Order: sequence, then structure tokens, then C-alpha cells
Amino acid sequence: MVDPTSNRTTRSSGSFKQMIEATKTPFIFNAPEEGTGEEVFNNNFKPDVIFHRGNEIKSLAKYFNPLVKRTPSSKKPLMAILSGSVGSGKSLVVEALIKSLGEILRPKPRIGDPTLKIIKVNCRLKKDLRSVLATILFQMNPQFTPQRRSQAQLIEILKSDIAEHNLVLLLIIEDIEQLTLQERIQLMKIKASIINRLNLLFVTSDESTAHELSTSITSSYMSKHIHLSAYKPGELFEIVKDRASVGLKNQSYTDPILETIVELTAAQGDTRETIDLLWRTAKQAEKEQAQILKLDHVEKVFESQLPSQQPKFEILKHLVYHQQLLYFSLIDTIHTTDKPVLTTTEVKEAYYTLCDRLGIMPRRKTAVHTYITNLEERGLLQQYKTEKEAIMIKVHYLLIESIHKKLSSILRLGK
Ligand SMILES: Nc1ncnc2c1ncn2[C@@H]1O[C@H](COP(=O)(O)OP(=O)(O)OP(=O)(O)O)[C@@H](O)[C@H]1O
Ligand SMILES: [Mg+2]
Repeated sequence: MVDPTSNRTTRSSGSFKQMIEATKTPFIFNAPEEGTGEEVFNNNFKPDVIFHRGNEIKSLAKYFNPLVKRTPSSKKPLMAILSGSVGSGKSLVVEALIKSLGEILRPKPRIGDPTLKIIKVNCRLKKDLRSVLATILFQMNPQFTPQRRSQAQLIEILKSDIAEHNLVLLLIIEDIEQLTLQERIQLMKIKASIINRLNLLFVTSDESTAHELSTSITSSYMSKHIHLSAYKPGELFEIVKDRASVGLKNQSYTDPILETIVELTAAQGDTRETIDLLWRTAKQAEKEQAQILKLDHVEKVFESQLPSQQPKFEILKHLVYHQQLLYFSLIDTIHTTDKPVLTTTEVKEAYYTLCDRLGIMPRRKTAVHTYITNLEERGLLQQYKTEKEAIMIKVHYLLIESIHKKLSSILRLGK
């Protein structure tokens, strides 16, 4: 209890200066000489290890390899699409690709060999083709001023620059969904006057854009589509554990805390949400001058999130109808009975009762099991075995309220 009549702090030892110093020294963050240690949790931090994307990186590097090796395997320019939901590691894969292409041993250039130039533009910042072209030209020549030039003029300048400087260009366009379909097609149609000079890598988090792109590729390009599937909870755990080991003090976190953080964010499969929750939990612990992250810190942070920032659970909309019903039965039973875990039998029974109430035929037992496995893969529930081998199902209690609300509205099952 704080004594309001006393203006002395409860800390008995140490001068005021020492106290200030003490609060400046982080307990949780692994503060390096420069900075606060929090940079490790920023989106632009480059981790040493990239988990679970090795095959995709290799496959892209192999595809674009002929550009570096100067041994074009085809007379056609190359075009690839890299798709994957938000936070699935696309930008990280792109960085790794650039690095890998830079490391490939080139045969000694002969006189007259073209030079490979890799240019990356993000359309989240440059929302139309003209700005994208201006950025490309500026990256090729920092003295370039695009003012008062039309899109068509910029295209002509690009073509003549490629020819004049004897370049082979790999353009990496991130967030391509920001451009209109017409603009994307225009970009694909820019054929440098010399064949095989303009190669493209389109990156998008929008599956319909990826589909549209792959169907609009003309036969004048070689093409490849790589999709990054959303991370499973176990994969997110590895990623966040690695981030914790770099950014936090050794003894300041435990596996169960990281598991909780993953459990609360896994449904999105967006690494950023997971890393962000870890960072904010660490800040909360730091604020309370705790030496170790506790469940209490995670809860405070998670519950204080504004509704707009709460896990979006867009994924719930994309489940098949009976899977939504089954999941709702599980959530509703936990919600109304306050039981933290249920047996699979209880979940199935709740689902059959709901189907009965709605006057619809429930799905077969095997389908129900597939739904449960799939929900687990998406990080929406967890299954575990008791000592007596009974299978139990649980959902993190902090998620129950928001999922219940969201599913009731999707299924129009208001009370
Ligand atoms: N496989 C991984 N290993 C380590 N860190 C990862 C991995 N995948 C993603 N991350 C981290 O997660 C965050 C988001 O990744 P990234 O920016 O590459 O995703 P993205 O798919 O490009 O997202 P967006 O759609 O928003 O552009 C970054 O901090 C990144 O370092
Ligand atoms: Mg990105």
C-alpha cells in the first residue's frame, strides 16, 4: 500500500541518480551499446536465420540464376510471382534472393557482357505506374529528374537506358496489388528493344491479384509462381523464440510464455503480430521493472489492444460453413460453461445439438475430425492427450470472447 502522507519512495537504498540509472538499464531487453535493444522487434530488422523458407528462396534463386550466370536458358525474359498472406515472410525472401544472386559466382565477364541490375520498388509507397517508373529510373541514375514527364516518356527513357548501358534488369515490385490491372499489364508489356533484358518479380499478399497475374502472363515470358503458406503455430514459435534470444536477456522469458504469445496470434499466421505481441509484453514487463515476462504481462497487453488492433480473425470467414458451426459449438460451450478444456466427444455433441437446433444434417464423423485437425493447423485450437489418452481440446481463454462475438455475427447466431 502507498502511504499518501509520505513523499518518500519505498526504495530505501541508493541515491536518486542511481535510481534513474537503474530505471534506464533494461531488465528485459538485451540492450546493445547503441540503441535500446528494441530494434530487434522492428519490421526492418534482418534476422540471421530465416526459418522454413529455404526451399522457396532456393527455387527463386535457381529460376533467376541465368541472369547472373550470363547463360540465358531461354530467349524469353523471366517473370515470377511471389505470393503469401501478410507477414508470411515475402520481403524477407526477396532480401535473401537479392543476397543469394549477389553471391553466385559469376564467370569472368567478357567485353560486351551485359550488367545485371536489381531494382526493388514497393507500391505501398508508390501507388501508380508513373511513380514506380520514376523510382526505377532514379535508382538507375540518382541525377534523374522525372518532373513533367509522362508515363509513356518514362517508359521510353527506361528502354533506352537499358540499351545504352547494356543492362539486364531484374525489377522486383512489392505489393503489386496497389497497381491497377491495366498498369500491371502495361508493365509486362514493356519490352526492352533487346530481348531478354527486362525481368520481373511481382510480390503480393493478395491471392486474387496473384491469380490474375498468372493468368494474364503472355507467352512472351517464362513464368513461375511461388506461394508462401501461412506459418503454422510450431513455425511461429521457432521464429519468435529466435527473435527473443537476440532481443531479450537470457533468463527473461520462458517457452510457455512464448507459446502463449503464439497461441494468441497464430490464427493470422502473420509473424509481425506475434513478434509485436512479444515486444509489447517485454515493454510491459520492463515498465513494471520485472525481471521476467509473465502471463500477467501478456494478458494486460493483449486486453488493452484497441478493438481495431485485436486479432482480425478474418480467417474465420474463410472456414467452410460446417467448420464454422463446429468451431462455434466449441467456443460457445467454453463460453457458457466456463470449462477451460473440452473432450472431443463434448465438442462433437455440442456440434450435433447446434445442427439439430438449426434443422440441418451434421457432417460425418471423419469430416468432423478433419475440421478439428485443420482448425489446429490454423492455430485456432490446440489438442493434447491426457495421461489416460483422452483427447482434449482447448482454446486460449483470452481469445474466447472475441471469437465468440465474431462467429456469432458471421453465422448470425445472436442470442
Ligand atoms: N521465416 C522467418 N524467419 C524469421 N523471421 C521472419 C520469418 N518470416 C517473417 N519473419 C519476420 O516477420 C516480419 C514480417 O515479415 P515480412 O516483412 O517478410 O512479411 P511480408 O510477407 O513481406 O509482409 P507484408 O505482406 O506486410 O509485406 C519481419 O519482422 C520478418 O523479419
Ligand atoms: Mg513485405
